[in-house]
Formats: sequence, structure tokens, C-alpha cells
Amino acid sequence: MPKTGTKAPPAASRKASPSKSDKTSKSDKKPAAPVTSPPSGGSANNGSGGTLDVVDGRTRKEYSIPVADCAIRATELKKIKTDNPDDTGLVSYDPAFLNTASCKSAITYIDGDKGILRYRGYPIEQLAENATFLEVAWLLRHGELPTQQEYEQFVHDITFHTYVHENFRKFLEGFRYDAHPMAMLNSSIAGLASFYPSARNIFDETERNISIVRLLAKTPTIAAFSYRHVKGLPFVYPDNRLSYVENFLSMIARMSESKYEANPVFARALEILFILHADHEQNCSANAVRAVGSSHVDPFSAVSAGVAALFGPLHGGANEQVLRMITEIGNVKNVPKFIEGVKTGTGGRLMGFGHRVYKSYDPRAKIVKRLADEVFKVVGVDKDLEIALELERIALSDDYFVSRKLYPNVDFYTGLIYRSMAFPTDFFTVLFAIGRMPGWLAQWEEMLLDREQKIARPRQIYIGPKERQYRSKLSAK
Ligand code: ACO
Repeated sequence: MPKTGTKAPPAASRKASPSKSDKTSKSDKKPAAPVTSPPSGGSANNGSGGTLDVVDGRTRKEYSIPVADCAIRATELKKIKTDNPDDTGLVSYDPAFLNTASCKSAITYIDGDKGILRYRGYPIEQLAENATFLEVAWLLRHGELPTQQEYEQFVHDITFHTYVHENFRKFLEGFRYDAHPMAMLNSSIAGLASFYPSARNIFDETERNISIVRLLAKTPTIAAFSYRHVKGLPFVYPDNRLSYVENFLSMIARMSESKYEANPVFARALEILFILHADHEQNCSANAVRAVGSSHVDPFSAVSAGVAALFGPLHGGANEQVLRMITEIGNVKNVPKFIEGVKTGTGGRLMGFGHRVYKSYDPRAKIVKRLADEVFKVVGVDKDLEIALELERIALSDDYFVSRKLYPNVDFYTGLIYRSMAFPTDFFTVLFAIGRMPGWLAQWEEMLLDREQKIARPRQIYIGPKERQYRSKLSAK
């Protein structure tokens, strides 16, 4: 019987500031970079320290709430209460987390106003230009770039865990011929938990390591098998001679040739897109992974929640929707009418525009646009590029979009690149998921090892009926 213990570190050691004598065991040691670093991307935080002094207008009582890292602890608000014995204290009401930090994180830094994105301090532009995807995956988890030896071992480990259990063939074959590949990916990733029950030992570092390697290694295999299933093509097994991205392309596209050779421009473009998508701090899917993972479920189940969240059209599903929108517009002369529909609310949203955090530009979108030019040099200009460029031109000069700070996000041009590589539209979000896997895993592990974290359980403001007596409306049961 595999061990299924999900024991957290002892309660006494889960306090925010463990005493010096507390021993940090191998299995629950802190991440390489401290999670308490200031959120300002490394510079001193001007809003640190001090207090927020408030007077409760209802009682005239004064409260002094400590401020740290530009934040107050929401639990401090609990102390603010009236003399009513039923009053449990103030809560902060923040639907959709518009202004609530749910964690301290040392992984990804974003300055939405300045259009800055950094992984562990490294600007996204430098990583996209120079790094490999697996190097970035290591960086996100460990906080530092890998040494040569660490990198080679990591690449080796990933390469030799790309195969999935043969039963996976039957599992995937059970899906309908037209199943959406994100639905297949989501359930398959969750299904991995059934093949690796010892992954439930999440406070065992060795188990975490192997689960993380398995998820990084097997996601492209499952994604490619899903693609082949929908196409009615035989599954292509991983080729351990190839790099991570080339192997994925081989499993997607190889037919009868003995060794698949990817177009180097496509392979590098895909690798850059994976790097650009690798993490994005507390976005919808990372938050889903953290929230589900906070119940101490195994990582396959936690990450499948991230895949589910990514599927939605307001998140990763947007790249698919951008292409559908452009296809619907059909011709560049229809763009003004479409924009008018967006503005008046009679049409849909301009997909691929707007972002919760970026309010000047999305730095990833700039890189993607350049990348699109390189890919189009190989395959010719995409027929819908003209429509995309016209949408962008009008939106960037129209007051509706400018005043709301709506700029192209990473998804606006990725779809055009994916399509020019002959990926079907409903596969785009799967490509996003492969890229995001290292970020989900880094966020999951950081949450797990953060001694301040507990099971995620928000409060609510109850607005339903007061107590009433049960009187059935049924005439028969
Ligand atoms: N097209 C038209 N209007 C928009 C758009 C858009 N794409 N995005 C926001 N708006 C408008 C809203 O209608 C609202 O206008 P109002 O103030 O007159 O009511 C205002 O801008 C603010 O919008 P919110 O929905 O409050 O912004 P929020 O931060 O909640 O949403 C989101 C961000 C979901 C990304 C939104 O901009 C959107 O739906 N964009 C299209 C979908 C998309 O591209 N998603 C991918 C995001 S990137 C990623 O997940 C990888």
C-alpha cells in the first residue's frame, strides 16, 4: 500500500516567524529565495512599516493597524467591532480579488503600469531571447538559474519521464472524436493522480520532485496524444533523442519518417512562446492551483484545476477566441463595424485586449508580435494578419479603449502564430497550458512550503433569508 499521508509540518512550526531553534526538515524546507522579500521587485519598499491609524465612525474607537510591504493584514480588521455581541468584526469585501494579496511570492514580479514582467528578477525579454524553456522551468521553481550539471540532470530526468502508462491510450481513446483538447488535457492531468498514488505525500521532497518532473515531462505527450486522437492519427511515442520542444513537435506531426526534424524557426518560436507563458504570478489559474492545492491534495489534482481555469475564454481560452473573432470579422473592411459593436455593447469584447494587471502594455505581446514576423517570413503572411493589424490600429487610437487602458495582451498575436504552424484553433490553449506548467508547479510548491498558508477559505457576506420554518411545497415524496 502506498503511503497516503498528507501531514503538514507540525502546527507549532507553522507560525509566521519560527524561532531560531526550529529545525527545518528536508521535507519542508523553505524555497531558495525568501518569500518575504519586498514586492517591489527588489528595491526598498517605501510603503513598508508604520501603521494605518483609523477611527471607527460607529463607535469612535481608534485602531492602529500595522503596515508591512504596503499591506495591512485583513485579520487585523476583525478587531474592529461594535458592542453588539453578534458582531464578529469587520471583513474586507473584495469580489474577484481586485485589491487583495493572497500570498507573499518570490517567483514573478509584474509592474502593470510600466509593462514589466520578471521571473525571479530576470526580465522576460532577456529570458525569451537567451534561455531555454527547461532552464526557465528550473529557475521558476528553484529561484536561481541552473548550473550546467543541474541543467543536464534536469533535462535528462524530463526526457526519461515523457512516456505515459499504456492505459492512457485507452483512456484517451474513450473521448469523442471531436472532444475539445483542453477537456482531454484537464481530465488526463487529473487522471495521472490515479497512476501515482504516492504523489499524495506532498511533504516528502523526493515525491514532490518526481511529481514535478512527471508533470513537466508528460504534459506535452498527453497534449500531443489528444491532438492525434482528434485527428484520427496513430499516437507517436516520445523520441528521447530530441529536445523538449522538438520532441513535442515530433509527437504532433511525425508520420512515417524514422526521425522527425522540426523547422528550427518553428521550434524556437514555440520555445519562446512557452517561456513567455511560463508564469504570471497570481492569475486565475495559478490562484486555482494554489486554492485547490491548499487542501493538501496531490499535485496532479491541484494542477488540473489550473488547466480548468485556463480553459475559460477570459483567461487562456482567449487565444482561441481571438482567432474565432478574426474569422467572424472576415474582411478588413468589416473592422470599424465590429469595433462599433464592441463599444456599444451590442457585439462581444475585443478578445486579446485588456488585462487585469497591465495598464500600459503587455511586454509579452511586444515579443510575440516580433516573433510573428519571423514565423511569417517562413510560411508567408497570415491572411488574417491584416484584420488583426487594423483592429489593433483602431483600438489603440480610439478613446473607448485608450481611456480604459485596453492594450493587446499576450493572446492577441499568439493565435496567428499557432495557426501558421498549422495547429487547429481549439488546440491553442493547450499550447498555453504546456508553457504554464512550470509556473503552476512553482506556485503550488511555494504555497505548500509557506508556513503562513492554510487551507484557502474566503469569508462571505450573507445576504440570504433570515431563519424560517420548513414547510414542504411537495404534495408527494
Ligand atoms: N473589449 C472591450 N471592452 C473591454 C475589454 C475588451 N477586451 N476588456 C475590458 N473592457 C471594458 C469593460 O467593459 C469595462 O468597461 P466599463 O468600465 O465601461 O464597464 C472596462 O473595460 C473594465 O473591464 P473589466 O472587465 O472590469 O476588467 P477586468 O480587469 O476585470 O478584465 C480581462 C480583464 C478579463 C482580461 C478583460 O480585459 C477581457 O475580458 N479581455 C478580453 C479577454 C482576453 O483577452 N483575455 C486574456 C487575458 S490575458 C490572459 O489571461 C493570458
